[in-house]
Amino acid sequence: MPDRRPIGFFDSGVGGLTVLREVLRRLPAESTVYLGDNARAPYGPRSDEEVIRFSSECLDELAARDVKAIVVACNTASAVALADLRRRYDVPILGVVRPGASAAVLTTRTRRVGVIATQATVRSHAYFQAIKDEDPFVEVYEHATPDLVPMVERGVIDGPEAETAVRRSLAPLLGERDGDGDSVFPLPASATIDTLLLGCTHYPLLAPLIAEVAGPRIAVIDSATATASALAHLLEVNGLATPAGSEASHTQLTTGDLAAFGRTAERLFGSLFASIGPIAVAGAA
Ligand code: DGL
Repeated sequence: MPDRRPIGFFDSGVGGLTVLREVLRRLPAESTVYLGDNARAPYGPRSDEEVIRFSSECLDELAARDVKAIVVACNTASAVALADLRRRYDVPILGVVRPGASAAVLTTRTRRVGVIATQATVRSHAYFQAIKDEDPFVEVYEHATPDLVPMVERGVIDGPEAETAVRRSLAPLLGERDGDGDSVFPLPASATIDTLLLGCTHYPLLAPLIAEVAGPRIAVIDSATATASALAHLLEVNGLATPAGSEASHTQLTTGDLAAFGRTAERLFGSLFASIGPIAVAGAA
């Protein structure tokens, strides 16, 4: 029995649209409801308790809209709150950490993977754990890069300011020890990563610049693309897929200021954002 109900997407703000963007490319027949908790973003510097509480409130809002599955597009919420969220709801819930970790394990040849993410994601070691679960012999170097989210939100994704910030943020993972990096697992001078996993919703928007700074020997991959594939699989195994060719509808919700959400989303996603439907204010926050 095909299921035409929408898929819910949750993020702390607009960044999760990078995940929605990949899902729309991969599953164009699926309808979606996207909720950004802009009123309380960013989640990256918050405590685990806050991330769990806010995420639960937002998922209550999505669950009330009769969604057939939920994607926790926010890396921080996936890393910190996924287990709690799965206990609360009886719809299938997909996070972005496991799909991203699997893609990293399939990509690395030297078995050395770097992960950049928010402070809360790095503190949780969720990526470390997920990669080790797939292959205990992969070395994982997690590094918090908190400067990048606010910069992307301002629409700065290329040019000198972005390049300086990306170089400074990646320096510890590229073996340049004189940056201000606070790597949880400092990279030994002899080791070099061959795969860099972008473990934050905003970083795919910086991917061309990050790839340039990282150089041709490092594969740059992101959780958004991997999550779209995992979602296709989830819908298939649960018999939840909408038939190909169906007309999809899309709704966007924010707990924050409507106009500010629209401006940021449009600045970052341009025509895609304009094409994906009305915005309404959600009551979660
Ligand atoms: N959505 C968050 C994530 O992917 C980044 C923004 C934030 O800190 O809230 O981790």
